[in-house]
Amino acid sequence: MYPKINKTTVIVSLAIASALTGCANTNQDNNDQAALQLKAQNMVSKMSTDEKLNLLVGPGYGDKGINAGPEVKGTAGYINGVNNPVSGIDLTASVLADGPAGIRIDPKREGDEHTYYATAFPIGVLLASSWDPQVVRTVGNAIGQEAKAYGVDFWLAPGMNIQRNPLNGRNFEYYSEDPFVTAKIAEAVTEGAQSNGIGVTIKHFVANNSETNRMTVNNIISPRALREIYLRGFENTVETAQPWAIMTSYNKVNGTYTSQRHDLVTDVLRDEWGFKGLVMSDWYAGDNAVEMINAGNDEIQPGGINMVTKEKQLQHLQKAYQEGKITDETINRNAVHIVTQMLKTPSAQHVLPANNPDLATHAALSRYTADQGIILLKNQSQALPISTHEKVATFGIAQQLTQKGGTGSGDVHSAHVVNLMEGLQAELTVDPTLQRYYQHWYHTNRTKTSDKFNISTIYHCPEPTLSAKQINTAAKDDDVAVITISRTAGEGTDRTTKKGDYQLTNNESALISKVSMAFHAQGKQVVVVLNISGVIETTSWKDKVDGIVLAYLPGEESGFAVADILSGKTNPSGKLTQTFPAKYSDVPSAKTFFGKDTNGDGKIDTNYYNDGILVGYRYYSTNNVPVSFPFGYGLSYTSFRYGTPTVVENSLNASGAKGEVSLSATITNSGQVAGKEVAEVYIAAPNGKLVKPKIELKSFAKTAQLAPGEAQTLNFTIPAKWLASFDSKDNQWIIEPGQYQVYVAPSSNINDIQPVPFTINQEVVVAKTTPNALALPQGYTINKTGGVITH
Ligand code: BGC
Repeated sequence: MYPKINKTTVIVSLAIASALTGCANTNQDNNDQAALQLKAQNMVSKMSTDEKLNLLVGPGYGDKGINAGPEVKGTAGYINGVNNPVSGIDLTASVLADGPAGIRIDPKREGDEHTYYATAFPIGVLLASSWDPQVVRTVGNAIGQEAKAYGVDFWLAPGMNIQRNPLNGRNFEYYSEDPFVTAKIAEAVTEGAQSNGIGVTIKHFVANNSETNRMTVNNIISPRALREIYLRGFENTVETAQPWAIMTSYNKVNGTYTSQRHDLVTDVLRDEWGFKGLVMSDWYAGDNAVEMINAGNDEIQPGGINMVTKEKQLQHLQKAYQEGKITDETINRNAVHIVTQMLKTPSAQHVLPANNPDLATHAALSRYTADQGIILLKNQSQALPISTHEKVATFGIAQQLTQKGGTGSGDVHSAHVVNLMEGLQAELTVDPTLQRYYQHWYHTNRTKTSDKFNISTIYHCPEPTLSAKQINTAAKDDDVAVITISRTAGEGTDRTTKKGDYQLTNNESALISKVSMAFHAQGKQVVVVLNISGVIETTSWKDKVDGIVLAYLPGEESGFAVADILSGKTNPSGKLTQTFPAKYSDVPSAKTFFGKDTNGDGKIDTNYYNDGILVGYRYYSTNNVPVSFPFGYGLSYTSFRYGTPTVVENSLNASGAKGEVSLSATITNSGQVAGKEVAEVYIAAPNGKLVKPKIELKSFAKTAQLAPGEAQTLNFTIPAKWLASFDSKDNQWIIEPGQYQVYVAPSSNINDIQPVPFTINQEVVVAKTTPNALALPQGYTINKTGGVITH
């Protein structure tokens, strides 16, 4: 079905990609923010009120906006420009395109032979699973190049919400259940993309952690949980990478839409964090345009509040202006924020799209990145890697029904997808009988639908029921079994705990049981490849098989990437950025997710964040809840020895908020093959006035590829800011005194790890925050870890 990539090209390009990953971030964005702001102020001072209001309201889907440059088909929207011969202002509209796995535009244009395919990179959570900001920066750079080549000014990504609950339908776009991992990956991808002179739009600000009734749901969250878990990644990315834009979310927080909260988009974002970019709403978000504009949500996208037309929207704002509900000062402020960023764009600088991104090099980079993120969850008796001398029996319709990514705005229209069968065939010796059987079944039984936004084509195919004879013959003839399982997900809908989603279908369970029994009876091993969007149930079946590879949704080179891992061409080095719980009911938010219908109208309207700061491993470790696979976990075909870590310096007592703790630890490859290891730094805080999770991730680093016997000393730095906890009573970030324990560990399971201590002599106030910002509405109480108490 898909044109195949020429293998030689891939290998050659891989070398280029490897070279790329080694290069430093070359941030060419030399635009002087202050000078641009002055220029923007000058321009805005010459604009009419209508011209300014048109800047504040996007033109809407299918409308290319005022004073547009060359049209880019299939983008998410535009920011209107201005063209006025009298004032002499000629500002070209900005082009905005999704999404987290690559640039989403229409690949074909009517009457045009040229194609506009973009590279489908691995989904966000797989990028993050590499734990390698350098690789991620390179991906950001490649996506930025494609944006620029296709005339896109603002990339509507990365998505950096916290994976609070495994059933959030958009978790695949996001990075982690942990804010530090989220922060470091978002920072890298932002720096990489913006080094091309296009803008990044970090999203969805904030607490868009579910899709059920996302446009109206009210998330009740304690300020401490907001600060420590949900805002922290955004804060770091704003401060370190200066994204050009930020997108507010659909949901309400503590009773008010995020786009309508002055405390969120102005007091916290601009005044506390120093954000200099533009704030845009999510598409059709919010319910009061005047409040949005006044709050400092500079740009309303795409000009419709809850689907009213742009024209009505503009009239609404004009009327509000005439009635004095929006002042000139506010309109000018928002317009200056927008124009300052627009001036940096290729469109404003009249750079014409070259429309020729280097898709071959980026395909190789997509594959390399997937290789770096794929996680080996189980490898009993060295079931993997599989040698080319072994004959592989491939089971599971996912070998044909391979999912490259999620649906909706997170989808990418790539020129090809290498399915799992094609990939395995290219690198291993595959049983042709089974392969033919699945191919035939797929082509006979495949159906297709669209996602709810008509963006993605989704293929469906039932899992065939193989006869005992088919399975037994394969068990006799072949050397090893590989069972593939796939799932996709998309925006607008949450996942379910049902069979076929969180749980395996009866057919999938039966396939695993029957294949395992038949192959084990012959003394042969069974490996499961998970081509899935997020966490699924693993407890009921993981003991039946010998190997498990979590590939997530690896992008357009899916098959090759999985084959690289199965064949051992790449030694797996990815680790989990989200916990796989033993059972769904163990998830700390299981009881309150997807929210509650509080007014009895049959619709979920309120989500109580009962888990507070105890999200993911923070909860499981604190409460000793056993999990299926812990956060931070992942195996390799080699083994690593961790040397005792050293606290190199602790300047927190002398330098307070400006201080840091630095550590080092030596990691040695103690096994037989070359490989990379991610070392994670967890801190256990002493008892103090704020109750803390048992452990929290504060740093991580990945080794280079180490040959057997080779060692590398990794250095870690924990700045005061990342060590601090949020004291909502006094509106401040503090580091409490006492002895801290540091664990340098291969995963969040630190039970067998010997910690090293450092001491804080007296409380350090790291930062003061806006009094009562984001406060809980009246009538709610919280527990000691910031969980909202529900009755
Ligand atoms: C999504 C955003 C996306 C926007 C434009 C919205 O539905 O939530 O993530 O950027 O559409 O496509």
